Amino acid sequence: MILPIYVYGSSVLKKETEEIDRTYPDLQTFIADMFETMAHSEGIGLAAPQVGKSIRIFVLDASIFAGDKPELENYKKVFINPVIPERAGEKVRYNEGCLSFPKLHEDVYRESRVRVQYFDENFEKHDEWFDGIVARIIQHEYDHLEGKLFVERLSPIRRKLIASKLKRITKGDFSASYKTKL
Ligand code: NI
Repeated sequence: MILPIYVYGSSVLKKETEEIDRTYPDLQTFIADMFETMAHSEGIGLAAPQVGKSIRIFVLDASIFAGDKPELENYKKVFINPVIPERAGEKVRYNEGCLSFPKLHEDVYRESRVRVQYFDENFEKHDEWFDGIVARIIQHEYDHLEGKLFVERLSPIRRKLIASKLKRITKGDFSASYKTKL
């Protein structure tokens, strides 16, 4: 089922999130819905708060980058209760978007490598390093679980410059090719 995506201004994007365990009701359905919603909106990552659930889970799909990086062919992953104990490498700049900010793209600096401890959809525990675009997506989505939005990582000047665009989103004055909610 395609779920509506909460956009900037929705309080759920700032709400504290809770860890879940394997008894979480209809978890596999929810995960399938997240993938379906992400594909429908042509996203590469989606965190639970963006579909109105204050729980610690996000999904990513980096398959679109397989042209440059064949190892990302059909690269889809689920992260449950993720923790980032370490980040490493240079801070790199990348033009990010976010489904909760329709049509807004801004350069954000983030570390190039990240270590993540998480559970997958079968509640198998993992402790792995990621780099490149996958590390980028993970850090963006992990921020959502912390109630932190990518515009909060911009310089104060840059934020000022896009303030009116941001205000328009909070008023529902935007267009998106997918279902949204405020
Ligand atoms: Ni986002």
